[in-house]
Amino acid sequence: GEVTARLQDILAAHEGLEGPLLPILHAVQESFGYVPQDALPLIAANLNLSRAEVHGVMSFYHDFREQPQGRHVLKLCRAEACQSMGGDALAERVKHRLGIDWHQTTPDGAVTLEPVFCLGLCACAPAALVDGRVVGRVDETRLEALLTEVRA
Ligand code: FES
Repeated sequence: GEVTARLQDILAAHEGLEGPLLPILHAVQESFGYVPQDALPLIAANLNLSRAEVHGVMSFYHDFREQPQGRHVLKLCRAEACQSMGGDALAERVKHRLGIDWHQTTPDGAVTLEPVFCLGLCACAPAALVDGRVVGRVDETRLEALLTEVRA
């Protein structure tokens, strides 16, 4: 199918490269927006790795999405100023409310949660980015409004 054809191109483009797994995974994510499960056996076979090895690398690096990105993307600032203003508690609350972890998407495809490192909004910590729009001083009220927005 289409996944296979695009994947073959990516694999061919990386042939003979040293340590090709990470560049290949990045290229796949760039091309598809995520790394489709179907791609893993092909990548593994191409590199003489087991599927478990490829999967292990994917989960080790946290850069790779296993599902397509949601209709909305919520990014929470994980850098110092925001941490010191309750960023951790905020992140835990968001994860709990959405029932997902970093880099995951809610099962209904509504929202993907990503960490981000400093949005230049430190004076208004904790900060978030909702579909590219910066939001500062994310207190409980503002968070509820954000969650309502992204789950719609
Ligand atoms: Fe969060 Fe700068 S540390 S915006």
